[in-house]
Amino acid sequence: MNKREVIIACDFPSKQELYAFLKPFENAKIEPFLKIGMELFYREGPELIRELQKKGAKIFLDLKLYDIPNTVENAMKNIGRLGVQITNLHASGGVKMMASARKGLDEGALSVGAKPPILLAVTLLTSIDEVVLKNELLVGESLTKTVKHYAMNAKTAGLDGIVCSAHEASLAVELGLIALTPGIRMDGDAVNDQKRVATPAYAKEQGSTYIVVGRPITASPDPVKAYLACAEQFS
Ligand code: C5P
Repeated sequence: MNKREVIIACDFPSKQELYAFLKPFENAKIEPFLKIGMELFYREGPELIRELQKKGAKIFLDLKLYDIPNTVENAMKNIGRLGVQITNLHASGGVKMMASARKGLDEGALSVGAKPPILLAVTLLTSIDEVVLKNELLVGESLTKTVKHYAMNAKTAGLDGIVCSAHEASLAVELGLIALTPGIRMDGDAVNDQKRVATPAYAKEQGSTYIVVGRPITASPDPVKAYLACAEQFS
């Protein structure tokens, strides 16, 4: 059973902004779990991950891989070598792609003596609704059925869990999977562009293991206070 944790979505344009944001956490001797996504990784590269690890940070590398199984396997080997705690891919790549990812990731991690990272599947992007699913992707099944089926595929492929809204976290729990949940807002926070938001307390109630929180912390006048408030509700 993994410990429940708050992960801060570090959606900053460069590492200068990220480091400025992290300074008050360092001063308060808090080492939060950080989500580094494509925006920052494509600019700063693996060196940023190594620098953050030297500071003691745990990392969720959110790169959402999607390609043929062989390419994903080899890319995951390199992610495994980075020694991050969590990474992910798209479930729509199919069972073979996910199983190859698992193999590559574990091999990469073991080759440097690191613990194999938790591997999660993005089932359907939250930007995809029933209309897009039916009219653009030509998927005839409902969104819920598709998400559930993709989650089962992820389990079959040996993945650890799924990325989903708090409202679907119980579905992951039923399948014995970890639920990592973005779209978190405290009561009274701006919703921004998120559609289906939930509080840390609700995510906990639904069985999420990790919550990913961005703007409620990064755009707060007091990010440390905002982080601690989320952590307290989620603990
Ligand atoms: O600022 P906010 O809390 O909305 O940030 C949420 C983070 O989670 C962002 O980094 C966003 O890309 C990510 N995310 C999401 N919904 C998903 C998958 C990832 O909001 N379905």
